[in-house]
Amino acid sequence: MGWLSCAEIWVLIVVLLVSGLCVYKKIWMMMMMMVKREKEEREERGERKNGGGGVFSVPKGSWGWPLIGETLEFIASGYTSKPVCFMDKRKSLYGDVFRTHILGKAIIVSTDPDVNKVILQNHGNAFIPCYPKSISELLGKSSILQMNGPMHKKMHTLIGVFLKSPQFKDRITLDIEKVVRLSLSTWMDKGCQVFVQDETKKITFEILVRVLMSIGPGEEMNVLKKEFEEFIKGLICLPVKFPGTRLYKSLKAKERMLKMVDKIILERKIGMDNNKTDSKEELPNDAIDVLLRDASAEYSGDQQMRVPLDFVAGNIIEMMIPGEETVPTAMTLAVKFLSDSPVALAHLVEENMELRNKKDQSGEEYSWTDYMSLPFTQNVISETLRLANIINAVWRKALKDVKIKGYLIPKGWCVLASFSSVHMDETNYENPYEFDPWRWKKIGAAVSSNTFTPFGGGQRLCPGLELSRLEISIFLHFLVTTYRWNSDKDEIIYFPTVRMKKKLPITIMPLHTPMN
Ligand code: HEM
Repeated sequence: MGWLSCAEIWVLIVVLLVSGLCVYKKIWMMMMMMVKREKEEREERGERKNGGGGVFSVPKGSWGWPLIGETLEFIASGYTSKPVCFMDKRKSLYGDVFRTHILGKAIIVSTDPDVNKVILQNHGNAFIPCYPKSISELLGKSSILQMNGPMHKKMHTLIGVFLKSPQFKDRITLDIEKVVRLSLSTWMDKGCQVFVQDETKKITFEILVRVLMSIGPGEEMNVLKKEFEEFIKGLICLPVKFPGTRLYKSLKAKERMLKMVDKIILERKIGMDNNKTDSKEELPNDAIDVLLRDASAEYSGDQQMRVPLDFVAGNIIEMMIPGEETVPTAMTLAVKFLSDSPVALAHLVEENMELRNKKDQSGEEYSWTDYMSLPFTQNVISETLRLANIINAVWRKALKDVKIKGYLIPKGWCVLASFSSVHMDETNYENPYEFDPWRWKKIGAAVSSNTFTPFGGGQRLCPGLELSRLEISIFLHFLVTTYRWNSDKDEIIYFPTVRMKKKLPITIMPLHTPMN
C-alpha cells in the first residue's frame, strides 16, 4: 500500500463506508417499498394473514357495470324458472363464495352450507341484519328483525317459547281448524273456481292476527288488513320520505296501525293491573300478552332487562311481516306441486283420509300432534319449502373481519347467505328440481342440517317454524279430504317475492265426484 498515504487510506475507508451505507440504504428502501407494495396489493386482493400463518382472501367475483353492478342480471334471473342461475354462473366462475354488486351494494354471496352456518350462528355477534334502506326505515331500530345483542335474544326467546309451547299449539289447532274449514266451505259458492293464493292469504292473515293480538274476524281485522297491505307496499321502494312518496304513505299506514295496537295494549294493561294474580298464572293469549307481561315489572322475573313498553306495539306489527306472505305462499306452492305430481297427491290423500276416517269413527277431536305426525304430509311440506325457497337468502353485515374456510369477509361488508343455492345444488339433493317428497324418507334426519334452512338458523331461527308447519298441515288435511281439483296452467315468479303469476286458479269438486 506504499502509493497511498495513511490519511488517504482513511479518507477512502470513510468514502467506501458512506457510499456502502448509501447503497445499503437504497437497497433497504427498495426492499421496504417492495414489501409495502406487496402488502398493498395483498390488501387490494383482500388477503390477510391469520395467527396460524394461513392466507385468507376476499372472495373473487365481478363488480359488473358502474353504479348498477350486476343488478339487472340478478333481477332477470328472478323471472326465469331457475332463479339460482345467477348464483350458479358465478359459482362456476369464482367458487362457492363470491363477490358481486347488486341492489346498490357491494356484497359477498355465500352458496356454501358451512359458510352459511357460520353466518347464521353469529358467534360473538359478528353479523347484524342488513336490509335495504326502505325496509330498515319501515321496521325501525327496535324491531326484532333488526335489533341485535341481549335484547334481541330476550325477545326471540319470549316469542319462541310461547309459539312452541304445547298449550299454545293445543289451542291454536282448534282456531286453525275452524278458520280453514269455514274458508273451504265457502269455496263451492265461488262458482267452483278459486284462486288458491288469495284464499290462503285470507286464512293465514286471520290466524296471524289471532296469534299476535287476538283480533277476530270483523271490522277491526279488515281495517288492519287494509293498513297492513299499504304498509308492506313500501318494503321495496325508493328510500325517499316526503308527502306523496311510497315510503311516506307506508310509514303513515304504520302510524295508524300503531294507534290500533296501542289501544289494545292499553286495554290489556288495565285488565292485567286489575287482575294481577289470576293472569300471571294463565297462559298468555297472544304475543301482546307475552311482551306486555315482560314489560310489566310485576310479571317480569328479569328486572335487569325488561322489554320496554314502547317496543311492544311496533314489534307486534313488524312480526306480521315474516308471517304474512310466507305461510300462504307455502300452502299455494304445495297445491301447485301436488297438482303437477298425481302420485304424490294420491299418497297424501290416502294418509289424510286414514286419519280423517279414524277421527270420524272415534268421534275424537284432532290434536296438533295428529297433524305433525303424518309422515308423508310433513315430507310434502319439507319438499315444498326446499323447492319454493320462499325466503331465498338472508342479508347480514360484518361488524368485524370474519375468516371462514379460507375466505375473508372484511368488516363493514354485506354478506348474503343464499339458501336457495344450497337447496338446489345437486351435491346436496339428487335431481334438485324434481318435487320428490319421498327423498325425505331417506334424508329425514337432515331436516335440521346446514343443507336445509327454509326457516334460517342460529340466533334468528324462525320462531314461527312449528306454527307454520301446523297451519300448512291442517290446510292440506282439510283440502284433500274435502275436495278434488284441477289446476289451470300457472307459473311461479321469484322476484321480488315468490308467488304465482295468476294466483293459481283451480277448479274444485267435492270429494267422490269424478273429475274430468
Ligand atoms: C313458511 C313460513 C315461514 C318461513 C319460510 C319463514 C322463514 C323465516 C326465516 C328464513 C327467518 C330468518 C330471518 C333472518 O335470519 O334474518 C325468519 C325469522 C322470523 N320469522 Fe319466520 N318464516 C315463516 C313463518 C313465520 C310465521 C308464521 C311467523 C310469526 C308468527 C314468523 C315470525 C318470524 C320472526 C319474528 C322472525 C325473526 C326472528 C329473529 O330475528 O329473531 N315466521 N323466518
